Amino acid sequence: MAEDKNNTKVKSITDLPGVGSATAEKLIEAGYDNLMSIAVASPGDLMESIGVGEGVARKIISAARDALEMGFETGVDLLEKRKKVLKISTGSKAFDRLLGGGVETGCITELFGEYGSGKTQVAHSLAVNVVASDPEAQVIYIDTENTFRPERIIDMCNAKKIDYKNALSRIRVARAYNSDHQMLLVEKIDELIKKEKLKAKLVVVDSLTAHFRAEFVGRGTLAERQQKLNRHMHELLKLADYHNLAVVVTNQVMAKPDIFFGDPTQAIGGHVVAHSSTFRVYLRKGKKGTRVARLVDSPNLPEEECAFIITKDGIQDI
Ligand code: GTP
Ligand code: MG
Repeated sequence: MAEDKNNTKVKSITDLPGVGSATAEKLIEAGYDNLMSIAVASPGDLMESIGVGEGVARKIISAARDALEMGFETGVDLLEKRKKVLKISTGSKAFDRLLGGGVETGCITELFGEYGSGKTQVAHSLAVNVVASDPEAQVIYIDTENTFRPERIIDMCNAKKIDYKNALSRIRVARAYNSDHQMLLVEKIDELIKKEKLKAKLVVVDSLTAHFRAEFVGRGTLAERQQKLNRHMHELLKLADYHNLAVVVTNQVMAKPDIFFGDPTQAIGGHVVAHSSTFRVYLRKGKKGTRVARLVDSPNLPEEECAFIITKDGIQDI
């Protein structure tokens, strides 16, 4: 039987090695209903959701990858992929320029900064600009701190003279009550997009780290927290890549006790969050009520700053 499951013949999940009808059912139930979703899964994901050992999980994933001919892509393929990347406007031209045109789809952008620096306001503005730019586009917004305000969306829509009811109907908000709930919600997004055939172009997680920070206190729990955050980020990255949507996460900063020069703050979540984010933007309060955005990490853009303002109408140039 196993011989029949030659990689060249793998067309659906039941053709994968070691996947009989019972395992296939478990895979589908866990959301792995096509080869692509398995090809981008980690062995740990599969081990957990279908109860197989690591060796089997690796074999299944590897066969799915072979079937899809994943692996090395040529520069030409990657250039084609880059052409599909959309840029979402923040509302400020200077801020968009800093980001190379706006927030990119296909990857994770992290907005970090202290309270009141504008993270949530920028997220609202991005949501409005997504729905304003395409009559079918949808936004999925995971709100962990109860700071999503439809009133702010209405303000921003009015400023752009677009129908706020239509805009609000295309922004789906879910409140996450703890870190497990937050992770579960993100795991459900793929299913939601497929089931309702949503043209989701933006997923916001505001705040990415607040629950994790509150629940995992003390040194002893740090490893567990980082492990969970890692899984969460991995899940978000898969969504971004698979659906060519932008993921925007917000993150607070904490005081760095051992820094005497430069900025004495650092983002929560450490390397796990920093390394999974393709673009990292540090927001801070500037002079006379302005805000400053600093691009601190990007694959192809210089580290630079720009200033913008938050008004009733949203995020704007000074
Ligand atoms: P935390 O979530 O607490 O970490 O902060 P944050 O970075 O998300 O800050 P947020 O985006 O909530 O910014 C709040 C600031 O935005 C407020 O202090 C106001 O200065 C500004 N703001 C929010 N709404 C309005 C508004 O309707 N008009 C104006 N002019 N400013 C606003
Ligand atoms: Mg906020």
